[in-house]
Amino acid sequence: MTLSAALPTRFTVRFGLTHPVALAPMAGAAGGALAGAVARAGGLGLLGGGYGDADWIAAEWDRAGGAPIGIGFITWRLTPALLNAALVRGPVAVMLSFGDPAPFAPAIHAAGVPLICQCQTVDHARAALDAGAQVIVAQGAEAGGHGDRRGTMTLVPELADLLAAGTPNTLLLAAGGIADGRGLAASLMLGADGVLVGTRLWAAAEALVPPGFHAAAVAATGDVTVRSSAPDAARLLDWPAPFTIRTLRSAFTDRWGGHTAALRAPEGEAARADWAAAQAAGDASAGTPVAGEAVGLIHDIPPAAAILSRLSEQACALLSSLCSKYPGGVPAGDGGSAPSPPPPVKPEI
Ligand SMILES: Cc1cc2nc3c(=O)[nH]c(=O)nc-3n(C[C@H](O)[C@H](O)[C@H](O)COP(=O)(O)O)c2cc1C
Repeated sequence: MTLSAALPTRFTVRFGLTHPVALAPMAGAAGGALAGAVARAGGLGLLGGGYGDADWIAAEWDRAGGAPIGIGFITWRLTPALLNAALVRGPVAVMLSFGDPAPFAPAIHAAGVPLICQCQTVDHARAALDAGAQVIVAQGAEAGGHGDRRGTMTLVPELADLLAAGTPNTLLLAAGGIADGRGLAASLMLGADGVLVGTRLWAAAEALVPPGFHAAAVAATGDVTVRSSAPDAARLLDWPAPFTIRTLRSAFTDRWGGHTAALRAPEGEAARADWAAAQAAGDASAGTPVAGEAVGLIHDIPPAAAILSRLSEQACALLSSLCSKYPGGVPAGDGGSAPSPPPPVKPEI
């Protein structure tokens, strides 16, 4: 579905997209309606394969209505059978996050499907490159959901340099805190070929999110998110170190954030049940809406297509206004110095 690209980059060219934007494969939230809407709008729609519920994945894939979508998995929970069930659907890409991609990469390559690996550190990126990933996602700690400690602002250019030095054909997406055209434009300037967007598209009309959580996100500032392991303890999930999950701060994270052993213990059973009920009901105080610092930039719940258009249009306007401000380059003395040398150039942006 190649429409003319709104903001052409190597990512839009390679994947035939209109917008250099991928939907984060958010467990539970990125169902078929959202992934299909993103794909039809010209982004890369990735179904949230999450913890690997095969029936859920099959039903949601059908809900994408035949749109060309891919899927993302939480690697430490993935099985060969689940991966094969996805590969026979002909995904446009498979994304692996949170764990060693090496055991699964050969099957993905053999199917001719692009492999996207989400990385939180330079070591993760090296492992992803060893596994033959065609796309690396540099995920900073601002991100909603699971992640680690590196910030987007330094991780993206550091991984851009790593790729430029050794595997310049590998694409790079920035993730963590990107919710508008400013974040997209900044990511391209940091050396990314596009962005992977979670929280902003979690707050889309098609996302599988209870209305109460959406309302809490619209009301929240970016100050009120927190990283903890409390929601994982409440689900008795054994997430490996170093990953924690960023959610909105709530009475639940205040009470249990520092007491996850007690929450996992038999005496925590009632609290775990209360949390599960709050999650189902969309009660943001007793539950934990999964969202990142970008909530402070979210003021509405529009359709995904509108979010993608806004991202590209704002980024284009910002990038072209910079050029028109200084048509001949930054003059010496403006800002107190001569123009800086250009950054290392990649083959195409
Ligand atoms: C609600 C939610 C659920 C998420 N679930 C997953 C997941 O199942 N697998 C995954 O790889 N990443 C998951 N993430 C993280 C995203 O892949 C991505 O890194 C992150 O959303 C980017 O930061 P942002 O939220 O600021 O856009 C999730 C994020 C959110 C907000």
